[in-house]
Amino acid sequence: TKHILQAALSAIPTSISRAVDYEILAKDFIADDIWAYIQEGADKPSQDQINRQAFERWQWLPRRLKPIHQGSAESHLLGQLHAYPMLLAPIAYHGLVHPQGELAMAQAAAALQTGLVVSSLASRRLEDIAETFYATAAEMQIEAAPLWFQLYWQADIEQNKQLIERAVKAGYQAIVWTVDAQYKRSEFQLPEGVTAVNLVSDSQEKYTSHVLDKHIVFQSSLAQQETDWATLDWIKQQTSLPVIVKGLLAPIDVLTAQQKGADAVVISNHGSRVLVDAVSPLSVLPDIKKALGNDAMPLIVDSGIRSGNDIAKALALGADAVLLGRPQLYALAVAGSLGVAHLIHLYRAELEMTMAQLGCDSVAALSPDYLWDVLRSR
Ligand code: FNR
Repeated sequence: TKHILQAALSAIPTSISRAVDYEILAKDFIADDIWAYIQEGADKPSQDQINRQAFERWQWLPRRLKPIHQGSAESHLLGQLHAYPMLLAPIAYHGLVHPQGELAMAQAAAALQTGLVVSSLASRRLEDIAETFYATAAEMQIEAAPLWFQLYWQADIEQNKQLIERAVKAGYQAIVWTVDAQYKRSEFQLPEGVTAVNLVSDSQEKYTSHVLDKHIVFQSSLAQQETDWATLDWIKQQTSLPVIVKGLLAPIDVLTAQQKGADAVVISNHGSRVLVDAVSPLSVLPDIKKALGNDAMPLIVDSGIRSGNDIAKALALGADAVLLGRPQLYALAVAGSLGVAHLIHLYRAELEMTMAQLGCDSVAALSPDYLWDVLRSR
């Protein structure tokens, strides 16, 4: 663990009072190259701005004198109960920032009954992560939250079969198939001791060392070239679990996903890490809602969410739930599983506070009626 600058604290630093504060502190805990890898946008360091600005376009139009009794942010998604409509996004290699990696994530998520999506590129065995997740819930005598597995398509079809089989057997409750990172530029080399342990070694190579020119590494390989909409059918045939397609932006793609039997989609630009100037999910969400009409499959949104206030905006624009990306790494680096649990708590408290101040006592009550479009009013 030479790549970890400073061991995680065993207490929550008093300087943290908002979810975003973890990012400020995290820089002291994470080595420079790993920090750059986490922050990186596609080609330009400022890519994240596209996602942040999309949130700033919307301001609140609160309603007054609407008493709230027994308000709750609880929601149902794919037949599963979520205490709050937010899950931890699939992120590769948590071992980069904490020796316990995904096991610490699983403890925090389970303890706070928060859905967790485990990446194909996890640095711990997917079975061990699931075991920790369910054991933590059992120990606390609470109902386990949803646990999902994220699939990066592997060139060897047998590997995809095995990954899905292993996930099902370990108790994962949905498959999230990510389709937006086939061709991804990265200049990052994994440090010793951190690998994609769930993939057979041949495909681990492809993820780590395809050096084409100087230090420019193209991750995720060309292996995924072969996928198309028929691949969704193939995945659905492997399992009775819900299948969620992650990484769509164009309304027509979302419509196609629904027609081809996706159980839900994640509208995402991968945190602005792949295609330069890819539109923010929040910007296209209204058009996607319009294209799908009523009775649509659930829409999950990620990229750029940094507060409970942001979550409320995504929900008001029509998202059914959100995924939280980079901030989970910052909290994990600063204070391990305790930090991640605290981060989740802060997001929840912020979301509830926003809902209460707007006059919304449920997630379903959030709607575009509460939003003011700054661009239109100019
Ligand atoms: C990711 N993301 C990602 N997505 C995925 O499906 N599988 C993966 O292995 C990874 N790995 C990964 C690593 C790192 C370091 C980052 C920052 C992101 C994308 C992730 O799931 C999510 O879409 C974005 O992180 C959301 O954007 P924010 O919240 O980071 O702005």
